[in-house]
Amino acid sequence: MGSGIAQVAAMAGHNVVLFDANSAAVEKAKTNLTNTLNKLAEKGKIANAAEIMTRFEFASEITAFKNCSLVIEAIIENLDIKKKVFAEAEGIVSNHCVLATNTSSLSVTSIAAACKQPGRVIGLHFFNPAPLMALVEVIPAVQTEPSVTNTCKQLMADWGKIAVLAKDTPGFIVNRVARPFYGEAIRIYEEGIADIATIDWAMTELAGFKMGPFTLTDYIGHDVNYVVTETVFQSFFYDPRYKPSFSQKRLLEAGWLGRKSGRGFYNYAEGAVPPEATKDESLGKAISERIIAMLINEAVDALHLNIASAKDLDLAMTKGVNYPKGLLQWCDEWGAEKCLTILDNLYAEYHEDRYRASALLRKAARNNASVTQ
Ligand SMILES: NC(=O)c1ccc[n+]([C@@H]2O[C@H](COP(=O)([O-])OP(=O)(O)OC[C@H]3O[C@@H](n4cnc5c(N)ncnc54)[C@H](O)[C@@H]3O)[C@@H](O)[C@H]2O)c1
Repeated sequence: MGSGIAQVAAMAGHNVVLFDANSAAVEKAKTNLTNTLNKLAEKGKIANAAEIMTRFEFASEITAFKNCSLVIEAIIENLDIKKKVFAEAEGIVSNHCVLATNTSSLSVTSIAAACKQPGRVIGLHFFNPAPLMALVEVIPAVQTEPSVTNTCKQLMADWGKIAVLAKDTPGFIVNRVARPFYGEAIRIYEEGIADIATIDWAMTELAGFKMGPFTLTDYIGHDVNYVVTETVFQSFFYDPRYKPSFSQKRLLEAGWLGRKSGRGFYNYAEGAVPPEATKDESLGKAISERIIAMLINEAVDALHLNIASAKDLDLAMTKGVNYPKGLLQWCDEWGAEKCLTILDNLYAEYHEDRYRASALLRKAARNNASVTQ
């Protein structure tokens, strides 16, 4: 992630210092950046690969950050290590330097608390690969100065990114709202309602998502996707809405991490025959509407709890994870009543808190109104 973010900053015209505790990672970043910029030049996308390369300093000591006005940390996802590195970096940079974290799941407020000037700490959550994905979640900690938030939002726009503002809560916007895409799909599979190929077919062909949940989690890697789910679940004080699944945990335990290990939900071995979907339209509709209703409910509840504005919630899901449309827009197109009915029917069937509808969805349905009104 770090070298991708560095590429974005350098292409926007900044001088960039890259440092990693492992010097081999710095060398690798140098090689990758050279190759990437050369390829972009060959394709005619940039004119000045060599000139952009001169903007990088590949450092072997953290003290190289001395004159930086912004440090973006993208190190291992470990709170204690991040806190230590923030305290160390703060001792090196000037009082005006902004310190940002690219954490996907940790509390920005906790990281800021490790600093003497916590008001200069903020979350800037890029998506992978950073040069290609337009979205950046800007996450002020409880302590962040409003001027730092505004400067960072503007800076991200100057870098050609779409910046959305998210409250410092587990998963921010995307990693919170997207959970049912994986979790509810796995639940449907575990219950034997449909197999993985059929669920993937329903979500792509009928619902318009670029990848189905099983293809996507195999692609992300079950080590990453399962750990995010588990972290979000624990961070939400074990709210059953975010409960991880045993099917995915077992894949992780087996080392069936997805594409990268040759096996996940699907088998990627040469000659393996992919399972065929059962293209039953009415089954597919029931599956896709159940998952979409769960996703809409997450987005509506995030709006209800002021995690982000309605505009930013829809931008985050369309630009961060390429959803075919914003979930709040989807809710308006369906009407809140339809979404509520699906959830209430699931709740009546299962009596599980996982299917509780957001109070805002219920209110919108009652008033026959948009959830954004
Ligand atoms: N990979 C993604 O898709 C993704 C997306 C968004 C955010 N993030 C976040 O970005 C961060 C990095 O993720 P990644 O996937 O690039 O990880 P990674 O393991 O590929 O890279 C982390 C790098 O940090 C270095 N490092 C570890 N401890 C260090 C220290 N004390 N000082 C300096 N460098 C140190 C490691 O040597 C390694 O090169 C994490 O916080 C992750 O949650 C990752």
